[in-house]
Amino acid sequence: MPESVPSTLGGSRFLDALHGTNQTGRPPIWMMRQAGRYLPEYRAIRDEAERKHNGFLTMIQTPELATEVTLQPLRRFGMDAAILFSDILVTASALGCPVRFVEKQGPVFDTPIRSPEALAALRPASEAVADLDYVMAAIRMLKGVLTVPLIGFAGAPFTVASYMIEGQSSSTLSRIKRMQYEQPAVLHGLLSQLTEVTIAYLKQQVDAGVDALQLFDTWTNHLSVYDAQQLCFPYIQTIITAMKAYTSIPIIVFCKNTGVLWPDVLATGPTAISLDWGCDAATMRACIPDTIAVQGNIDPFLLYANPPVIEKRVKTLLNDLGDLPNYIVNLGHGIMPDIPVSHVQTVVDTVKAWGS
Ligand code: CP3
Repeated sequence: MPESVPSTLGGSRFLDALHGTNQTGRPPIWMMRQAGRYLPEYRAIRDEAERKHNGFLTMIQTPELATEVTLQPLRRFGMDAAILFSDILVTASALGCPVRFVEKQGPVFDTPIRSPEALAALRPASEAVADLDYVMAAIRMLKGVLTVPLIGFAGAPFTVASYMIEGQSSSTLSRIKRMQYEQPAVLHGLLSQLTEVTIAYLKQQVDAGVDALQLFDTWTNHLSVYDAQQLCFPYIQTIITAMKAYTSIPIIVFCKNTGVLWPDVLATGPTAISLDWGCDAATMRACIPDTIAVQGNIDPFLLYANPPVIEKRVKTLLNDLGDLPNYIVNLGHGIMPDIPVSHVQTVVDTVKAWGS
């Protein structure tokens, strides 16, 4: 397909790649956190929302703002997929454990879940999901204007639970790890409740019109393989099994330490595996069955390099994987807030020029 023809949902290289049938001459590209603080147009909206009240939450809870911010990276770079602008922690808030986002600190939970009483006080999943109607409104609004597929998403139970238990970002996840031994029933009760609300939430996103789903289990890299098999994958598998019974749309799983954990990710039954940058993508592609698409895994910190260095490294990745019908270019994690916009442009330009 010539580059001048915009992808339409009927012939989307992103959805085709997920189904293993991309023949358009280059792989699709999108980036985790493609909407965010590195974009001046994002910061303008964020600053205005901040002046009014609790900036980030206002942005994700106002469908017009969420829609606008979702579209910003598409206008600038022509990404091959949009990802709904929201956050993985909205399911925690909906369960009755509210999150605040504090500048330079990240998410904060003032009432973390650390006891059977706190767990019992959470709302039932069926009630909680009604709180997330604002997300569905944003999805419907986006579907009215998008010409590329829309990715819906949710946090996987372990990563969302880690914030609900730690109360904020943590470099060790000590509290959730202790809870595994000291209060296993509380931890597994919370993981089960998050699993239930996540399934209901993703079903609603499908009903509202998303074209693909991604599950984020970002902090699996903190766990031993054994612990990840206890705390992460059974819950992801329950979610994927429920979603596959409900819809045929593709499901991508992103977690960290995929170089080691990929057989466990594979066993949960996803359409695609999103690789972090700690593994070699070509080696991984050779291990993972061809029926599963692979996404990733440019080092997000490579984007600090000069454009010629970025271009060279992205070309190496493309030479390894760019011809495959089941490969999607992405970063190994989200774009950092201090990355120059022009460096993101270099990645996109390199992918779009490749093969032509
Ligand atoms: O990828 C996208 O562009 C879609 C939107 C999206 C956001 N967060 C927007 C966001 C997605 C998919 C997420 C997922 C998310 N959120 C994860 C999993 C993947 C990952 O990136 O690690 C996690 C662990 C969170 C929790 C979270 N939300 C943290 C730790 C932070 C603070 C970090 C930071 O950059 O400030 C957030 C806030 C957040 N979520 C921002 C954005 C754009 C920054 C908000 C701002 O300050 O403007």
